[in-house]
Amino acid sequence: MDYKNKIAEAVAAAVETETPENLAQWIEIPPDRAMGDYAFPCFKLARILRKAPPVIAADLAARVRPEGFSRVEAVGGYLNFFVEKGGFAAGVLSRILSEGERYGSSDRGQGRVVCIDYSSINIAKRFHIGHLSTTMIGNALYKIYTFCGYRCVGINHLGDWGTQFGKMIAGFLRWGSREQVEKDGVDELVRLYVMADKDPDMQEEGRAWFKKIEEGDAQAMEIFRWFKEITLRDAERVYAKLGVRFDSYAGESFYNDKMGRVIDELKAKNLLVESNGAQVVMLDEYGLPPALILKADGATLYVTRDLAAALYRRDTYHFDKCLYVVAYQQDMHFRQLFKVLELMGYEWAATDLEHVSFGMVSYEGETLSTRRGHVVYLDDLLDRSVEKARAIIEEKSPDLENKDAVAASVGIGSVVFFTLLNSRIKDIDFWWDRALNFDGETGPYTQYTHARCCSVLRKADLPLEGETDWSALSDEEAQSVITELARFGEVVSDALERNEPSIVTRFTVGLAQKYNAYYFAHRILDGAPEQSRARLILTEAVRTVLKTGLSLIGVDAPERM
Ligand code: ARG
Repeated sequence: MDYKNKIAEAVAAAVETETPENLAQWIEIPPDRAMGDYAFPCFKLARILRKAPPVIAADLAARVRPEGFSRVEAVGGYLNFFVEKGGFAAGVLSRILSEGERYGSSDRGQGRVVCIDYSSINIAKRFHIGHLSTTMIGNALYKIYTFCGYRCVGINHLGDWGTQFGKMIAGFLRWGSREQVEKDGVDELVRLYVMADKDPDMQEEGRAWFKKIEEGDAQAMEIFRWFKEITLRDAERVYAKLGVRFDSYAGESFYNDKMGRVIDELKAKNLLVESNGAQVVMLDEYGLPPALILKADGATLYVTRDLAAALYRRDTYHFDKCLYVVAYQQDMHFRQLFKVLELMGYEWAATDLEHVSFGMVSYEGETLSTRRGHVVYLDDLLDRSVEKARAIIEEKSPDLENKDAVAASVGIGSVVFFTLLNSRIKDIDFWWDRALNFDGETGPYTQYTHARCCSVLRKADLPLEGETDWSALSDEEAQSVITELARFGEVVSDALERNEPSIVTRFTVGLAQKYNAYYFAHRILDGAPEQSRARLILTEAVRTVLKTGLSLIGVDAPERM
């Protein structure tokens, strides 16, 4: 029911000078629910009706009786409205029951496409926990946009181009073997690269191999493609654990043959200028450093490839929006990229491209630095988390079936939940005791509440269909759960508009807290069956919405824990 409109219509009929649309805008939500669920301030009417606000409020309180409300009260210059609690419960909960896992979704994105560039790993580098945010924020946005009716294109813009790959091939041919690379994967590729990079005699050879990659030489391409396969094989293992997938792996090298158009266009539009032999686009007018397009030797750069990628995505997918989920260290890069596209005449660059920036990750108080050896590999972190979850489950629920599957859901879910708990721009410091805790604002706590709902429903020997006494949900705890449930659709839209999955994460844990407060204050199966049924339906609605909310952020919801 649309309570605000009901109030606006009733007040409009009573005062006769204002339209309901106009009055609806004045309605407020009182900070304290004891004051009412909605409040209508009479101050603006005072001037129109030439009466004091308390007089107007008292007069309206005697006459206004909107449908769906049990009480209307004048307090000072305010008219306070109390929702009829049983009706409110019936409206919200019946809707959740009938819509099921579609509850909260929308079709606002119908016919629209959004490209999401996330994870975007570099070849021959191992996945470390610094990659967690881009991967999981991107994955959550993918699910949230899909839930709102958009068609999503998930793009892993691979970092698969650069002079280091020439050295890696040279190192491999000099010292490496296929067997060793197959066996040790990315670690072996890194070892070969580091050896070649340090060796002064290998520099020339490295450059020559890089040139061959650029020219598409058959042998170079065969080796390089295989390096990519090795890297992706390692990455896929992590993606599988996290439940993440992509629609495209078109990365930097994919644009090798698509750069001509960009350079030609920049030239034709008189945007390129020479600077120390290099070709740049000057951006000082916009308070930005020049965008480096071509090096003196004619090689293209990161931004050149991103220009080609943006144009390619626009032509191929006709996106309405293209999101780049990349750390804030690249803020400048994206500002330059978007500005150059705008200067090229692509007006959509100013409105449809967005850098979804996020903070840094550190581990138990230490920043991650490869140089100091403080690298925490994502694979190891996830495995350890599952192991720890397994030990906790063993202790708490020794008789549980499929402990392995539950440990995986809880172990990985806790890491993902922790990553998506705070607004993305904040830095994250990962601590085990904060992530993998069954109390507090954590994944395990929220998952446990979901499992609790499942268990209540399993144990109750009462079908959900049948006569229901909604007034059994008039208490404060139940009403606050229902108010939260009613908000879910708005929460999802808000998360989408701000590209901020943490809004959904916070909602799920808040809902779990409110349901637990209800659960500990009331006995679900007390009283007549019509009353128990109402409480079970509340439980079923919480179960449904928790499950949907968790799935939107990429966290499993096991039925038993
Ligand atoms: N591979 C890059 C890095 O690790 C991120 C790429 C982001 N996407 C893009 N279109 N520039 O820093």
